[in-house]
Amino acid sequence: MIIAANLKTNLTRKETRNYVEELSTYMKQHASTQEVLVFPAMSSLDNYESNVVIGAQNAYPTQNGAFTGEIGLDHLEEFGIKTILIGHSERRHILGESQEFIAKKFEYFKNLGFQIVYCVGEPLEKREAGKEEMLTYISAQYEGIDTKYENLIIAYEPVWAIGTGLTPTLEDIEDIHQELKTKSSAPLLYGGSVKVTNAKEVLSLKNVDGILVGSAALYSEHFCTMIGYGDIVEKEMV
Ligand code: PGA
Repeated sequence: MIIAANLKTNLTRKETRNYVEELSTYMKQHASTQEVLVFPAMSSLDNYESNVVIGAQNAYPTQNGAFTGEIGLDHLEEFGIKTILIGHSERRHILGESQEFIAKKFEYFKNLGFQIVYCVGEPLEKREAGKEEMLTYISAQYEGIDTKYENLIIAYEPVWAIGTGLTPTLEDIEDIHQELKTKSSAPLLYGGSVKVTNAKEVLSLKNVDGILVGSAALYSEHFCTMIGYGDIVEKEMV
């Protein structure tokens, strides 16, 4: 299973270091076999000696250059970062990234062989408009994206479930994951208000290959519990 933490604009460099250390210690002590990804804030990117994979929440599709406020490939390479989050709803909706730009970014990092966690998901009005309209909306987020890329992970994150405490029903998650698996056979994560109380159930669903966790991942104990659920669910599956 893939258990990923999107730390967003939280945790300083020092806090992130402690966080990553706590995760590593947990994983060693419990001999966890989960693929754990952590996306820290930009200023917390660093060299971490750990069995946790560190990824970037964002970068501009450039080696370097005049893109005020952005970081480029040079800055990722400095810390050996080869994993990136692309298409997160906060970048689409708050930072105004278009599908065209997202696809350009995807192509750039794909050509460099990055592991890409690509996010898709619908806002509430699209969900309420019915399944067909919702799927049409999500399909547009696959435009320009190489769904066969071997280093791709997709995260389905309904916008209305992110940071709100609301989640789709387990049946709804299973249903949409089944639909999305027809678009790409890449591992498919669920994200949006995943927490200790629902992570195990979500991880147990068919076509759910992992979780992408925001708020609840900020507490290392909670996130470690979720890593543990990944191990339990995997054992139950065999
Ligand atoms: P959340 O965020 O867990 O706080 O809902 C998930 C995400 O944005 O990836």
